[in-house]
Amino acid sequence: MISIAIDGPSGAGKSTIARAVAKELGLTYVDTGALYRAIGLFAKRSGICDTDEKALGPRLKEAEISISHKGGAQRVFLCGEDVSEEIRRPEMSMAASNVSAMPPVRAFLLELQREMARRHSVIMDGRDIGTVVIPGADLKIFLTASPEDRAKRRYKEFIARGEKVEPEAVLRDIIKRDHNDSTRAESPLRRAPGAVLLDTTGNTLDESVELVLKTIKEYVEL
Ligand code: DC
Repeated sequence: MISIAIDGPSGAGKSTIARAVAKELGLTYVDTGALYRAIGLFAKRSGICDTDEKALGPRLKEAEISISHKGGAQRVFLCGEDVSEEIRRPEMSMAASNVSAMPPVRAFLLELQREMARRHSVIMDGRDIGTVVIPGADLKIFLTASPEDRAKRRYKEFIARGEKVEPEAVLRDIIKRDHNDSTRAESPLRRAPGAVLLDTTGNTLDESVELVLKTIKEYVEL
């Protein structure tokens, strides 16, 4: 069983790169951001404001969240319903960032993530994978890129999915989420001790995938 942790800010390409690497190396790709997004959606559907920890905390036990992997693709279920597409809507990003700052939410999702890493050889991406979820991972990577580069990628993704967004709004959102995610008291986004720092600014996707594969081969006995 091997485990690789990839952390970094929004839009650094973590999920696209990790998915490609998982396919190449036969690992299970776990996108942990999707779990926080599912909690954001749970709050929305329950009529709870996504910054209201007092209201959301006690209701979490009603949020049945599970993930499955079919043909390499992760699907996320909320109370039995496949919400994998719905959680990708632009407004779910900030909702996920807001709920992810709440200690009860993080505690609620921790065991689910650790269980995945115990049962499968994983490449897991998120914000606190190397610092909290699997600090003993075989390799920890901190993947980053400039905010402008990351906003450009997110913008292209939204447009490809037919979402109407303004480029400036995407950049503003990225900067605000960076601030939220790295300044929160609970498990803030940090480069874990021993994590290899990779900067993908200016890279094509293929170049970034190659860089990560090269790093894995250098550090992990596959
Ligand atoms: O990776 P993403 O954009 O889907 O993540 C959505 C939000 O969830 C992000 O703003 C921060 C939060 N998150 C987290 O706090 N810890 C993780 N391991 C993964 C995501």
